[in-house]
Amino acid sequence: MKGIIFDLDGVICSTDKYHYSAWKKLADKEGIYFDAVINNRLRGVSRMQSLEIILERAQKSYTEKEKAVMAEEKNAIYVNLLKEMSEYDLSEEVKYVLQKLREYGMKLAVGSSSKNAKIILKQLGLEDFFDAVSDGTNITKSKPDPEVFLKAADFIGEKPADCLVVEDAKAGIEAAFAGGFKCAGLGEAAEHPKVTYKMEGFRDLLEICQ
Ligand code: BG6
Ligand code: MG
Repeated sequence: MKGIIFDLDGVICSTDKYHYSAWKKLADKEGIYFDAVINNRLRGVSRMQSLEIILERAQKSYTEKEKAVMAEEKNAIYVNLLKEMSEYDLSEEVKYVLQKLREYGMKLAVGSSSKNAKIILKQLGLEDFFDAVSDGTNITKSKPDPEVFLKAADFIGEKPADCLVVEDAKAGIEAAFAGGFKCAGLGEAAEHPKVTYKMEGFRDLLEICQ
């Protein structure tokens, strides 16, 4: 293994919780049923695709314009939550493991569907840490399409077969598999049949990459 490509939301940090509470606020306002189980289906997929999944439970249909307004409203709530983040939101475990992986000589990249990835990295004090960041601003197709990871591998100059993707999303595992990457799954993604490594915690990467 020469490179590691990390998903961001739910892997490096707990911004998956902020996505959930922002969508929940919007869904409640619209009177649409939404819970943590449905929320798991939003992991890794784009903002608009996330909205479409939430709207499966809506009692009425929405125009494209209304959908765009709702997605923007959710993002405004989400970005407000991000403002409260600081380097204290980076866990000691993640910080330690990232430093160790760097000492092992690994190239480290981010592969996230989010258009807010760079803001989050800045809040965490990681804006200059990764060798490359591939995110929602440089892709045309969201996970489960492999584009975001293929771009990340290209940015660090490594072949997919030499890189490990770390994911908490089913869509992310499928993207990694489709792109020819090895992948390590966290949380629900650990149960996906296509994972190369099941992780119980972030620290497991030290063993996987040794
Ligand atoms: C992914 C999240 O990282 O980014 C998804 O897992 C989210 O839930 C997607 O929809 C897009 O994020 P953003 O910040 O561009 O709305
Ligand atoms: Mg994620």
